[in-house]
Amino acid sequence: MGMELLEQKILSEGKVLSDTVVKVDSFLNHQVDPVLMQKIGEEFAARFSDKKITKVLTLESSGIAPATMTGLTLGVPAVFARKRKSLTLVDHLYTAEVHSFTKNTTNEISVSKDYISKDDTVLILDDFLANGQAVRGLMDIVKQADASLAGVGIIIEKGFQEGGKQLREQDIRIESLATIASLEGGKIDFKNEGAT
Ligand code: G4P
Ligand code: NA
Ligand code: NA
Repeated sequence: MGMELLEQKILSEGKVLSDTVVKVDSFLNHQVDPVLMQKIGEEFAARFSDKKITKVLTLESSGIAPATMTGLTLGVPAVFARKRKSLTLVDHLYTAEVHSFTKNTTNEISVSKDYISKDDTVLILDDFLANGQAVRGLMDIVKQADASLAGVGIIIEKGFQEGGKQLREQDIRIESLATIASLEGGKIDFKNEGAT
């Protein structure tokens, strides 16, 4: 189910750049709306309240604000995977490859072994879910750490791309706060309960 406040914000401030891309720089990807982020954090914490989450894991940079607010509500740390190669202590890192179809680039992401361990129950968060490559890279890191995966929280899922479907088919629990069904004709349509 969509988060009404977030959907309203996307409708009022989102800029549809094409049939597949919506720009939300005014509150998420460049400027950050702290009050909205706090509410997003509370929403994710509530949706995963049945899990004993010990770490929130995201990817720099746009995941950091929502992950921090979720960690604040849950009372646990937020960890962000880095996209740049670390010059030191490479053997002390979990690393995974993340391919972006949009940008046609492959990034190596990394997390220090100091910050996720087998005793952790991890909530993965990200700003967008498109093809799911970033989430898969973060899941790979959780697996390398031998930690438990509580699920995946997404702020904006693009329901017309394959990531969400493929991950749900693997029995991954995904909670998306807004799911866009279509951006065709410059119009943002949300997928909502009751609608098909
Ligand atoms: P892809 O496979 O379709 O390329 O999707 P991917 O998840 O790799 O997305 C690449 C980057 O583009 C990610 O940000 C992602 O959050 C962002 N993104 C994907 N779809 C949209 C969209 O419709 N609108 C906006 N605004 N962003 C989108 P990133 O490179 O990790 O950057 P950062 O913002 O986290 O620093
Ligand atoms: Na992004
Ligand atoms: Na992102």
